[in-house]
Amino acid sequence: MKKHLNVGIVGFGAMGKTHAYSIASLPYFYSPLEFTASVHGICTTSKEKSARICEELGFARAYTDAQEMIADPEIDVIDICTPNVTHFEIANAALDAGKSVLCEKPFTVSYAQAQALAAKAADQGLICGVVYNNRHLAAIMRAKQLIEEGALGRILSFSFHYRHDSDIDPARFVGWKQDATVCGAGTLFDLGSHAIDLCRHLCGEFASISGKSHIAFDTHKQKDGSLWQTNADEAFYMTATLECGAVGQISVSKLAHGTEDGLSFEVYGTGGALRYSLAECDILYYMDASSPKLPLGGTSGFTAIPASGRYPAPGGAFPAVKAPQGWLRGHIHGMYLYLDAVASGTHFSPDFADGAQIQRIMAAAMKSDAEGGKEVQI
Ligand SMILES: NC(=O)c1ccc[n+]([C@@H]2O[C@H](COP(=O)([O-])OP(=O)(O)OC[C@H]3O[C@@H](n4cnc5c(N)ncnc54)[C@H](O)[C@@H]3O)[C@@H](O)[C@H]2O)c1
Repeated sequence: MKKHLNVGIVGFGAMGKTHAYSIASLPYFYSPLEFTASVHGICTTSKEKSARICEELGFARAYTDAQEMIADPEIDVIDICTPNVTHFEIANAALDAGKSVLCEKPFTVSYAQAQALAAKAADQGLICGVVYNNRHLAAIMRAKQLIEEGALGRILSFSFHYRHDSDIDPARFVGWKQDATVCGAGTLFDLGSHAIDLCRHLCGEFASISGKSHIAFDTHKQKDGSLWQTNADEAFYMTATLECGAVGQISVSKLAHGTEDGLSFEVYGTGGALRYSLAECDILYYMDASSPKLPLGGTSGFTAIPASGRYPAPGGAFPAVKAPQGWLRGHIHGMYLYLDAVASGTHFSPDFADGAQIQRIMAAAMKSDAEGGKEVQI
């Protein structure tokens, strides 16, 4: 008989729904699936909201207290989808109760919190993960393979960017992601954590970083017409040196007109280059520097690799290989990998130690910013 995992989701906004959808869709995307999983219950701050969602989506238990959900012996996995400042307390209590924990990014709001959770998860041998979902897009998985196969040679430089337009309108206050007391740090934590994760995942460990934060609008208008004093960065610009010697830039901004979910990167090595954009998220561009440039350009230039439909078995059979798949597919694959690791008792990556290292890098970038952009060793 297959092992069954009961998941309890804490927080049911945009990401709670994304995770619940991912769990429900696993049997469609993975066949055979070696385990079964379902959302047993959800927890939000509103009794009515929790009850309504459970009725609409068929979940058994509605909670308003995360501690009560954690104490429920029927729940195997605690999945944290709440605002950033709440992650530590919920994850800490879940680890104390011996539960496996999947936590949304950014892992915590400080390096100290992240270190404490990573140490506790390791001590208890619990399988825990942080949702850096972009790693699990097929095109990014192919980028990682190509780098590991040596297709880029020695990595020399990189640029990773993540841009939104959500802070560009001072007549609009976007909510808790603009409030440092709830998000920890604005764009750096929200978008920078993703960009740093991808850079580290693909190009290697960070050695040093310098950073510059930017607040373009001192105030934003709240719904009731009153003014919100901006207290979280609206953009953050970084220069990083990696242990391999590569140097590059990471910039994140919510002040960028014309962007939607504008994640993109370029990596340049001695043997070639990679380019990627989430706007065209199923395709990876690869340039092999050994391709001849003659005659008339030869076969030089970037090749578009259609990666998305080719997830390894037991994925990949649905939908058809030729069908574009998108952002949600990365979340589904990340959920598959995480729950498969819990069911089989194997390691999942990115784990809490990875989450802690990303917090450490972001803390160094903030220190650099506070010290006028001085380079800070990691
Ligand atoms: N990986 C990604 O692609 C991605 C995308 C967006 C957001 N996120 C992360 O996911 C997390 C949630 O973001 P979101 O956009 O879903 O937020 P949201 O505001 O849409 O939803 C937050 C939910 O948490 C609930 N909540 C708040 N405090 C709670 C508490 N103490 N106990 C129980 N429930 C509580 C709210 O009622 C709400 O249901 C954040 O950490 C964010 O950074 C990740």
